[in-house]
Amino acid sequence: MSGMQLASGERSASGGRSWTVLDLLRWTTQHFAERGIETPRLDAECLLAFALDCDRLRLYVDYEKPVEETERARFRELVRARSGARVPVALLTGRREFWSLPLRVSRDVLVPRPETETLVATALERMPDRDAEVAVLDLGTGSGAIALAIASERPKARITATDLSAAALAVARGNADALGLSVRVRFLEGSLFEPVAGERFDLVVSNPPYVAERDAAGLPPELRHEPAAALFAGPDGTDVLRAIAAQVGEVLAPGGAVLVELDPRQADAMSAWLREAGLVALDVHRDVAGRQRVVSARKDG
Ligand SMILES: C[S@@+](CC[C@H](N)C(=O)[O-])C[C@H]1O[C@@H](n2cnc3c(N)ncnc32)[C@H](O)[C@@H]1O
Repeated sequence: MSGMQLASGERSASGGRSWTVLDLLRWTTQHFAERGIETPRLDAECLLAFALDCDRLRLYVDYEKPVEETERARFRELVRARSGARVPVALLTGRREFWSLPLRVSRDVLVPRPETETLVATALERMPDRDAEVAVLDLGTGSGAIALAIASERPKARITATDLSAAALAVARGNADALGLSVRVRFLEGSLFEPVAGERFDLVVSNPPYVAERDAAGLPPELRHEPAAALFAGPDGTDVLRAIAAQVGEVLAPGGAVLVELDPRQADAMSAWLREAGLVALDVHRDVAGRQRVVSARKDG
């Protein structure tokens, strides 16, 4: 729908009177639903709250409040970007909550996904002592989501977070600063284990790129707004998983563990690659939707 159509649709739906918060939510929810957006009401609320510079709860209190034209114009631009170019809400607002931490996000990073909280929860189970002085490596940290969630829960953990992308690391560092966690997390640029050669870790966690390039054409249009290097890993999506399986034993301390997020269809193959690399105690952990989401293994010793 073009900007002109959106503006005239708005006019006719309000019946000529001034637009209230509720009018805008109703109109936008219907518009998003017609455009095939999966969570139309939630997206409408998040964008309107952002345009009005308030939280979502406030919208409910202000249902009958008229919305000024300047704020409506701001909202209209957001609605157009969401329904037209299919920009994800988090990239329009520049923020996303993960593990209850408010994170900044940009087009340089993957928007952290709810299923990645399964990886964090599983990692914390491996560190039951809150004051454990464990060394943790987060490979491909993106916005810093996993590293910062662990840092927030385990105050004495020494955390290293790496990424191939300098731009992603800048976002992650900004998030660490904003959360007061920057002294607790070391950020290093480079591919996989190269920046930490010669070091040893008690726990290695990663949500690596694992989408198959051959599936690219059928993916939701929202993914076009996230970095390809954060999503794709070779024709069948397993290039980075295989590299992690082959090399992780070199950086794990004896008894140390690795936890990797993946597509549920990759869980059996990843378990086999880790076993072939000499790791033991293979296990698969399910996300809240019941899908095989994280594979874990341990180095003997
Ligand atoms: C799926 S995203 C995960 C980001 C973040 N950890 C999260 O869970 O939201 C994968 C990240 O790995 C990075 N990456 C891709 N290939 C890499 C490599 N060979 N070495 C290090 N990082 C890599 C990407 O830049 C991206 O930030």
